[in-house]
Amino acid sequence: MNRSLNTLKSILAMAIISLSFTACDNEGCTDPIAENYNENAKKDNGTCDYIYGCTNNKSINFDTLATLDDASCMTFETWEDWILEITKTGLDTNLGFAHRGDDSTSTRDVYFLDGKDPDGNSYPEGTMILKHTHNILGTSQEYVGMVKQEKGFNTASGNWEWFVLNEDGEMKTDSVGKSLRGGNLYDGMCIGCHQSATTDFVFSK
Ligand code: HEC
Repeated sequence: MNRSLNTLKSILAMAIISLSFTACDNEGCTDPIAENYNENAKKDNGTCDYIYGCTNNKSINFDTLATLDDASCMTFETWEDWILEITKTGLDTNLGFAHRGDDSTSTRDVYFLDGKDPDGNSYPEGTMILKHTHNILGTSQEYVGMVKQEKGFNTASGNWEWFVLNEDGEMKTDSVGKSLRGGNLYDGMCIGCHQSATTDFVFSK
């Protein structure tokens, strides 16, 4: 009787020991999007590592490597809620065809995210601007954007990046599917004209 009780006790003890060993073995990071995801782990032990960044692939700063969103995504898609900073109308011979400067009925509205002001003499990194050009007949609709990028992004463009957008503020693409964006967009066409324009708003800032 005693003997079999002892045997039972030791079997129980063994079972408990091996159970707790298994539990230890099966602890780790259980989140598949984490860098150190452990597919054998059954229980999460709070050690998951992530690459933080913007994970929305429609954003202009989408980070292909990021595994966890850090709320840093930048997008033009909310432009209709931005602050209307300036409106210009009518013919502008300096513009030629650009921004429909050749159309006396055209209106050029410039929106700023957060209504940003220059910090000292230049706009702070992250400043976003959208310009909507339209005419009375509604035959012309143009959406372009500028974003102040980090120092060293493109010295010739004053670190502004240029964008061609659609009405929803999404980046348009060229014939091979490449987004129409860059410090040197259209081989410097945007910079070229803005460099010598005296009536533009932000290029030199
Ligand atoms: C032929 C000259 C010319 C070209 C080319 C041109 N722009 Fe402009 N742009 C101007 C001028 C001048 C203004 C301000 C006057 C106005 O809007 O009537 C302006 C205004 C803007 C604004 C509003 C902010 C500001 O500085 O006034 C944005 C944004 C903009 N342009 C983006 C672009 C982008 C992107 C391109 C290239 C795809 C481009 N522009 C090409 C001359 C030009």
